[in-house]
Amino acid sequence: MDRRVLLVVALCAGSFAQVRAVEAADAGIWKVAPAPPASWDRDRVADLAGRRKAVMEQMGEKGILILYAAEPRNYAADVDWPYRQENDFFYLTGIAQPGGALVLVPGAAAIREILFLAPSNPAQENWTGHILTPEEGRRISGIQEVWDARLLNPLLATLIPRARGILTPPGAPAEAGGRGGRGAPAAPAAPGDWAQEFQKVIDFAQKQEAQLFMILPARPASVEYHREQEFAAKLAATGAGLALKDATGIFSALRRIKSQREIDILQQAVEITAEAFARAYAVAVPGTWEYEIQAQFEFTFLRRNAHWGYPCIVASGRNATTLHYETNKDRMSDGDLLLMDDAAEFDGYSVDVTRTIPVNGKYSKEQAEIYRLVWEAQQAGIRMALPGHTTAGPADSITAAANKVFREGLFKLGLITDGASDQQVRIWFNHGISHGIGLNVHDPGGRELQPGMVITVEPGLYFRPDALDNLAKTAENEKFIEAVRPVFEKYKGIGVRIEDDVLVTTGEPKVLSQGIPSKLEDVEAALAQLRKAMKTAPLP
Ligand code: GLY
Ligand code: MN
Ligand code: MN
Repeated sequence: MDRRVLLVVALCAGSFAQVRAVEAADAGIWKVAPAPPASWDRDRVADLAGRRKAVMEQMGEKGILILYAAEPRNYAADVDWPYRQENDFFYLTGIAQPGGALVLVPGAAAIREILFLAPSNPAQENWTGHILTPEEGRRISGIQEVWDARLLNPLLATLIPRARGILTPPGAPAEAGGRGGRGAPAAPAAPGDWAQEFQKVIDFAQKQEAQLFMILPARPASVEYHREQEFAAKLAATGAGLALKDATGIFSALRRIKSQREIDILQQAVEITAEAFARAYAVAVPGTWEYEIQAQFEFTFLRRNAHWGYPCIVASGRNATTLHYETNKDRMSDGDLLLMDDAAEFDGYSVDVTRTIPVNGKYSKEQAEIYRLVWEAQQAGIRMALPGHTTAGPADSITAAANKVFREGLFKLGLITDGASDQQVRIWFNHGISHGIGLNVHDPGGRELQPGMVITVEPGLYFRPDALDNLAKTAENEKFIEAVRPVFEKYKGIGVRIEDDVLVTTGEPKVLSQGIPSKLEDVEAALAQLRKAMKTAPLP
């Protein structure tokens, strides 16, 4: 393809191709995610140290925090799922291996942060690879005290003398999930004089004034936090005299506000996601299978050193009316919409993006009516992503703005009978509009928005073929069903969601995912141009 054609294609393909591709036509028309941002490595230790400091300030000098690294999860027989670190442990350490723990002791004389790592174990490493050395642990986390994981319980027994009886192995990372327990060299002796170093905290514990912070979900028998729950139950049963504190609130408050480095990482995840969407736009023609589109996403995520942040949702036709359809096994037909809720997780940070495209390249009249309504509702919602506005409760400005668009639009189309009823809107828009993103795709989010929060705005309308049949059999609903059924028949089977990731700033909201076309005309133009380009410029 000559440079002139490339230029036209790049311009028409809109944001996907970006100016970069126009300036450097040789790079081709396909969007390729850039290299990771410099801040990712450069600012890691400063970010981690700042977070640990903030956590310790909230704990106070009577507090002790224990965070365990995630345990490996079994897939089948002797095969595990790919390992993923526990979010809060990762948030304070940057360590992505199992077998570790973090203890923070703000009341210590000098050693306030101790990272425990599984010890070196050549027999184990022969099978599953390198175990981080203390020096590597120091470099990644910035924590100077890096101790053998088998010293965790002896340290806790020193800090909490009344709990000594239960502090033999249960919960110790080296036994309970660490891979370094068996075949490792003998445990080292305790470094330093612990009694002296931690005297203040030991005194608080003896006076029954100490507070032990862990992640302690209210729901019983948590799979992820069972060690914490079991340890807490034993401590309570033996009268160790400690106040047990759930640290979740401390982490939620901190994780809500992203540092510049975290915003850069999220933007990188968006760029990788955008590259995948460009491929999906190009190849999702009638006759393609949903799993082939899933493969485009997963291929792109993996080749850019990322992963999916949540299982891919590739929902064609009426599958798009199932909110979290993950089966991805159907074949796409001419006339179908394709809802793709697919996004990358880069270094633990997940973004969350949805686009809904017509597989034949053009929205039908009814599809376009619903699509435009969702898009207008989303734009209205995004405009409300401002400091001081809320995303929860009765004053939720984002939902209120979207609902206003939906009330007017759905009433005009005859899909609701009361143009003032948010309750009727809920029949077709039946999920929350916004959540935070970050280390969890559903990260601690909004309530009152503040600069530095990154949230989704994701309205949708879903016309499940059985939606009217599933409404509660009340007189009011019977009247509603009778009135809307003839119109409903025209829209039956349509599902549309548009989801973007929005940074709240001191000024206007910044849409991190705006490079992925979403306005109806932009989507149709991108589909046409990318599919045309496919014939002459192979996918990268
Ligand atoms: N992809 C999950 C969600 O949108 O919340
Ligand atoms: Mn979402
Ligand atoms: Mn989503």
